[in-house]
Amino acid sequence: MRTPLIAGNWKMNNTIPEAVVLAQDICNNFERDWASEVDVLVCPPALDIKPVKTVFEFDRVKVQVGAQNVYWEESGAFTGELSCGMLASAGCSAVIVGHSERRNLFGETNEDVNRKAKAVLAARMTPIVCVGESLFVREAGEAVEYVCSQVEAALAGIDEVEARSCVIAYEPVWAIGTGRTATPEQAEEICAAIRGVLARRYGSDTAEAVRILYGGSVNIGNIELLMAQPDIDGGLVGGASLDARGFLSLVRACV
Ligand code: G3H
Repeated sequence: MRTPLIAGNWKMNNTIPEAVVLAQDICNNFERDWASEVDVLVCPPALDIKPVKTVFEFDRVKVQVGAQNVYWEESGAFTGELSCGMLASAGCSAVIVGHSERRNLFGETNEDVNRKAKAVLAARMTPIVCVGESLFVREAGEAVEYVCSQVEAALAGIDEVEARSCVIAYEPVWAIGTGRTATPEQAEEICAAIRGVLARRYGSDTAEAVRILYGGSVNIGNIELLMAQPDIDGGLVGGASLDARGFLSLVRACV
């Protein structure tokens, strides 16, 4: 069976001192026996990664740290970018790639997402590949097709062994930060279709091994019904990850 994963995406929130306080708050409220039943990850802004990692290591709390973005080149004249090697050396075990905010605000293409996912895998970290349709696409009745094509594009050139190290996050754009969550049935329909893509590409064993998250206004009021869906293995949580107790209540709901 797949171990649930609750991943917090702090987005562009928290200075270093604020991030350290939040990480400490997570440590203070984390129950040690959760660690065997659910994986927990936080993705702070890049500057906060190392200090947050240091807090978790000092307290020996089993919370992983990831990044929100990466560039695929190893080094060189790419002003403002960070490489996989840099993120790994700061303590990251995962990187979010292709978040809709990166796609929509910063022009990331499917090809960019694919290159980033491959670079993250080459650095032995987990890419959390984000996909999701706009309201326009959903209302046109094309959500399944659209999201499946994003998954296909993101996984181009990624082999079966590498695919097992990937996490896919389905985040309908219209549900992100809006308080409007997809119904469990809507989320399950797309997550099942994503697993279908994985099965066609890699076979059913690999498809069954890959974790698929739902993201978009996940909160304590909807997590249990979402997690009850057969193809939803956890959440990629934005706003509700900025409060330690609120975030950990989502973790507890997966235990
Ligand atoms: O990465 C997280 C998602 O964008 C969801 O954000 O929980 O604030 O809707 P949200």
